[in-house]
Amino acid sequence: RIPVLIDCDPGVDDAFALALAQSCPHFDIRAITAVYGNMPLKKTLYNARALNEVLAIGAQVAAGAKEPFFKKYDRGDDYVSPVHGSTGIASILLPEGRRPLDEDEACDVIYREAVRAGGELLLFAVGPLTNVAKALMRYPNLPGLISRFYIMGGGIEMGNQSPYAEANIFKDPTAARICFEKLPTHMVGLNATCDGALSEADLDELIAACGDGPKAALLKELFTYSRHNAFVKGQDSNIIHDAIAVAWAMDGAVCGGEERHVWVRDDAGDRDGETVADPAGVAPANTWVAMTTDTARYKGLLLQMCRYYREI
Ligand code: BDR
Ligand code: CA
Repeated sequence: RIPVLIDCDPGVDDAFALALAQSCPHFDIRAITAVYGNMPLKKTLYNARALNEVLAIGAQVAAGAKEPFFKKYDRGDDYVSPVHGSTGIASILLPEGRRPLDEDEACDVIYREAVRAGGELLLFAVGPLTNVAKALMRYPNLPGLISRFYIMGGGIEMGNQSPYAEANIFKDPTAARICFEKLPTHMVGLNATCDGALSEADLDELIAACGDGPKAALLKELFTYSRHNAFVKGQDSNIIHDAIAVAWAMDGAVCGGEERHVWVRDDAGDRDGETVADPAGVAPANTWVAMTTDTARYKGLLLQMCRYYREI
């Protein structure tokens, strides 16, 4: 099986990304590293450890960065997210994960697992890119040890945190710039994730696919929350951003895209955090940019995930 590490800030859609990866028979999730983002690190780490247990992943879990390289991170422990609720996972407080926390910090765990995997590590980053950038700065030979790097982040001429920038990149543009400069990237940005929005009927189908057993109960609750947010409160959480990055790695036909040279503005101006694709196509490509999502294919993988959790 392919060794996998998931760096994340759970996060409702991060929870789906973890569950989807766990349901893939070809993936072996070796470690989960937490980063501040949707919530402060204290909560994203708590959630990562709890999800590791509830979703029966059984990986190492490590703590990462509490804040970006230079920007200020201003969410306190009492922050309530309109998208992710008060705990970060739809206001659900899961029981504490019992597996002891990894003694190493996230950036060291990323390197350690990359070495252990002998160049085969599949790395996902679905939160701000601070942990991965730290690892790249600390271990210059890391790029040669990563088989593929998938992120949820950015967007070509699209933003959700500012008119120009997507939230994960916006939170730490310097870290994102470092990652794009050093590591060939499969970028699942807003172009693809918005294209992969699920309809109310899709969510109903996914809720039904979870059944009534205990193992898929959390997923059922999270799908129900997403449905409520999207179609009752009128937010856009019918877009389960992070899981699309995992789905693309599971099945290359889930997203359509192009190879481009992408760089990140980190100049603290209006366009800070913008992912810019070389318009002239002159610079050598460093990124596979997903631009579209085959929603039916993606939903097929989510349904398979529901069945996996019904049956384990
Ligand atoms: C990204 O930001 C977070 O809210 C989500 O978890 C996702 O990673 C979407 O812009
Ligand atoms: Ca996330």
